[in-house]
Amino acid sequence: MIKKWWMESVGYQIYPKSFLDGNEDGIGDLLGIYSKLDYLNELGVNLIWICPFYDSPMDDNGYDVRNFFDVYEKFGTMEDVKKLIDKAHALGIRIVLDYVLNHTSDEHPWFIESKKSKDNPYRDYYIWHEGKTVDGIKSEPTNWGSFFGGSCWNYDETTDSYYMKIFSNKMPDLNWKNEAVQQEMMDVARKWLDYGIDGFRIDAVSHLDRAELIDAKVDQTEKYPLDWHKFSNLPKVHDYLKKLNQDVFAKYDCLTIGEVGGEASIESGLKYASFDSNELSMVFNFDHNWCNNLNEITNPKKIKVNVICLKQAFSKWQYAFRDHGWIPLNWLNHDQPRLMSHYGNYRYPKASGKMLATALHMMRGTPFIFQGEEIGMTNYPFEDVTEFNDISSKNSYYYHLEQEPDDPVKAIKKAALKSRDNPRTPMQWTKEPYAGFSITDPFMPVNPNYKKINVEQNLKDKDSLFHHYQQLISLRRKGTFHDVITYGDYRMLDPEDDKLYTYMRSYQDQSILVINSFSTKKEVYDLSQYVIQSVVISNYKKQTIKNQKIILKPFESIVFEVKEKS
Ligand code: GLC
Ligand code: CA
Repeated sequence: MIKKWWMESVGYQIYPKSFLDGNEDGIGDLLGIYSKLDYLNELGVNLIWICPFYDSPMDDNGYDVRNFFDVYEKFGTMEDVKKLIDKAHALGIRIVLDYVLNHTSDEHPWFIESKKSKDNPYRDYYIWHEGKTVDGIKSEPTNWGSFFGGSCWNYDETTDSYYMKIFSNKMPDLNWKNEAVQQEMMDVARKWLDYGIDGFRIDAVSHLDRAELIDAKVDQTEKYPLDWHKFSNLPKVHDYLKKLNQDVFAKYDCLTIGEVGGEASIESGLKYASFDSNELSMVFNFDHNWCNNLNEITNPKKIKVNVICLKQAFSKWQYAFRDHGWIPLNWLNHDQPRLMSHYGNYRYPKASGKMLATALHMMRGTPFIFQGEEIGMTNYPFEDVTEFNDISSKNSYYYHLEQEPDDPVKAIKKAALKSRDNPRTPMQWTKEPYAGFSITDPFMPVNPNYKKINVEQNLKDKDSLFHHYQQLISLRRKGTFHDVITYGDYRMLDPEDDKLYTYMRSYQDQSILVINSFSTKKEVYDLSQYVIQSVVISNYKKQTIKNQKIILKPFESIVFEVKEKS
């Protein structure tokens, strides 16, 4: 059996701008992260993924990189990074950084050169194309839409051409067909690995190859339809990754986790990250992110979770990678709403929060917690477009307003439910002003519920969500259940049940039965085929078991060590 350090890790994702302000300017920074390493150590994680802190004009909060070899001045310095790595390593915590290789900022020196003239040596670092002229009117080379709204091309008058940008106008896409780009980006990876980091979360990695420049046919009502297939999971991505792996990653004992949006299938998932793919260690997929009725509602209290959808999405990846590869386990990230507001229940925050944590952490893979998830942070009650910081949230508001121009309230509600700003409000540390994130007005408003939901309160309460996460992490990392939780086989039970998510993990002669109720009512689950040996973890103090049936309370979740009766 293949065993690697990153299979035995528990990860924590940090969004630097919103984590903690260490120098009192209202913006999170490296010093802030440094000062909370002990907190993360107490939680028990031993791997952190830090979102970009490279020098950037911050059009997309750092995913638009101006200089890969320097730190954004408001986040700190290269020395701060070194200090952070050293202290983390001393605590046994490894660090992975975002490796942003699909695009740079338009303020990156390569792009500044590239746009100067058609024969500039950097011209081919990016994807330039002439426009189309139809009936005397010039337009983009194709009708393809971009992820952040509008066309995926932007016009530049200096050379009267368009450059491709599948995110914002300020994020021109790199041309991976160009050998020189490949070499430059390999240098970026090498440089950071040599600086002491332990690997990468590879941003937008599925988009490095593009289809032929033929108009997208999907949804003709849109001027610029977003057809992911035009630039997602296409064949050459795998050639680039094999090369990156051979020339860089394989030379280090590093972890590489690709972000594969664009509806990556299981087949392409395995191409990226099976044990013998020689590309990446694992890939984040998004299949479990859409299992509710978000698109049909405006009132957040009306959210309904589709449990069967969740079970199928998780199980599909669990089964495909069984014996063949490894996957990360995460609920949501910095691009998604908050877990509690998406899949939790506002009437049972503690029980549902703990249940969701158990449901995920007992699976096979490497769990990742998104900052604030461990204390149950929720979506922000956005009421006005000016409260948005994120470019795609603003675009989404205007999109909804265009659909129904008379209903701006509906537009804000729709945009708010999905907004990427929800997970990016300041981390709630204490009940002090600004939630202890800063002593001055932060770059984004703090969620008004911070007096109730904060780290300080969670640390005090022995029965808090934080302590439940701590217990889950400790069960996985050491002791009797380490092997079965880490390496055990996964088997979904009761696939038709739309209230309970139950599964079995087994390793050698040990088995654990994981039962999670997504129901607001009592549910009954039959245990008659098992001999119960012990309770591994649960979210209620007492269980009600009668006649070999467990009566589950709302959102009850329980893990039993069992033997199956023969
Ligand atoms: C990824 C990141 C997201 C970013 C985008 C462009 O999807 O997770 O935050 O906006 O790539 O870099
Ligand atoms: Ca700061």
